[in-house]
Amino acid sequence: MPVPGPGYSITVRVEAPPSASAAGDLTTAVGKVSGVLTAFDVVESRSDAIVVDITANVSSADHAEDITTALNSLPGVRVRKISDRTFLLHLGGKLEVNPKVALRNRDDLSRAYTPGVARVCQAIAANPEDARRLTIKRNTVAVVTDGSAVLGLGNIGPAAALPVMEGKAALFKKFADVDAWPVCLDTQDTEEIIRIVQALAPVYAGINLEDIAAPRCFEIEARLRERLDIPVFHDDQHGTAIVVVAALRNALRVVGKPIEQCKIVVSGVGAAGSAIIRLLLRKNPGDVVAVDIDGIVHSGRSNLDDNLRWVASKTNSHNVSGTLHEALVGADVFIGVSAPNLFGAEQVRTMADNAVVFALANPDPEIDPLEAQQHAAVVATGRSDYPNQINNVLAFPGVFRGLLDAHAHHIDDEMLLAAANAIADVVDDGRLNASFIVPSVFDSAVAPVVADAVKATVRREAQES
Ligand SMILES: NC(=O)c1ccc[n+]([C@@H]2O[C@H](COP(=O)([O-])OP(=O)(O)OC[C@H]3O[C@@H](n4cnc5c(N)ncnc54)[C@H](O)[C@@H]3O)[C@@H](O)[C@H]2O)c1
Repeated sequence: MPVPGPGYSITVRVEAPPSASAAGDLTTAVGKVSGVLTAFDVVESRSDAIVVDITANVSSADHAEDITTALNSLPGVRVRKISDRTFLLHLGGKLEVNPKVALRNRDDLSRAYTPGVARVCQAIAANPEDARRLTIKRNTVAVVTDGSAVLGLGNIGPAAALPVMEGKAALFKKFADVDAWPVCLDTQDTEEIIRIVQALAPVYAGINLEDIAAPRCFEIEARLRERLDIPVFHDDQHGTAIVVVAALRNALRVVGKPIEQCKIVVSGVGAAGSAIIRLLLRKNPGDVVAVDIDGIVHSGRSNLDDNLRWVASKTNSHNVSGTLHEALVGADVFIGVSAPNLFGAEQVRTMADNAVVFALANPDPEIDPLEAQQHAAVVATGRSDYPNQINNVLAFPGVFRGLLDAHAHHIDDEMLLAAANAIADVVDDGRLNASFIVPSVFDSAVAPVVADAVKATVRREAQES
């Protein structure tokens, strides 16, 4: 059940009698229908009336309607207008382009544009690597989507995906000073997406694939990695995997278990789950058991696609079959990137002592975190209203900052692991506890250390090759 939060905030402009009790009456009316009042501003005052902007967090459109009705029903009060602050924030989009050069006079013009620019073009034609030195390529990343798996909204198409991609670009800039730009493609054809991204790649020093549905996302990423000489990173896969591996490292520090002795159940073997398993396997876990909508993944299961066949071949060392609930018995760790409300406290009780539960399905996790806490030692979710939020923002800005600074031509698992370790290490022993296994998304220390770790790995690999 959604709770009122800043993601849905309304401002209601009301006209009310100028009585001593007016403010109290208005705020009480909002509170009585469970609105969370965040601001009360008198915008106009006359002898016969006051006009007030009441800002409140709500949980849904119906809830906003309840607040309006409650205010309108007060004697002498009239609601003039309701504004949704989230929509106001999006008017005209969230990004703009700003030139970095002054264009004040003919001299400026002849250097930034013709005729001077022609010599720069010729230099790049003679030495294409100079594009990184002399153009926006140096610091620019394409945020590419086909709109097929947007947030929890599903296949809503490229135009509807644009607000998310703009937000992503804003985060790139805010946390790592990367100039990212949304590229929302009006096609969901794998070959066409690959061809288009290949064709537009000259402008960019990196490609961030976003919200492209599995299993198409695997092929698109793999083929683009083969064809392009810039890093291609599907954030829903690898951003998630980096933060999960970082969080798991710290959760296991809290409970004092070596990963080599842990049985880890991963629920969900789509974009996020597959990438988590791939990266986890690099850490030599005791055993990994993957579960999807059809139960435990094992090599004897029928209808395995390429992805599931690979997972079956690398996990489940005892080749067990069965349900998620059966998989959980004796498990040290649960990592869920699947679907809401799959189990309860009863199943957590069957896990090993000091169990770790990461229930990351959004917006509703695989288990209510309050239930999980009854028997688990460490609990994490993808949500901002609980401790231990597993959020890709901890990873992707710093990862790309490092890749761009190192002029990387590819990205690999070593770089992802370096990023994960860097995130985990931000939480030192003095701060580490069951409610603090990952740094805050607003911790400005994170992106620079992730960038440094990725950059060092790129450079080390370049020296070794
Ligand atoms: N940082 C985060 O918190 C974070 C990051 C990535 C994904 N997620 C969440 O993880 C979930 C999956 O994301 P995705 O992009 O990998 O989706 P996806 O569609 O690619 O994969 C979903 C997987 O879940 C499995 N699944 C569905 N219903 C199931 C059930 N009842 N029992 C077991 N498995 C089931 C499917 O078989 C599939 O393997 C979403 O809720 C997403 O919001 C959270």
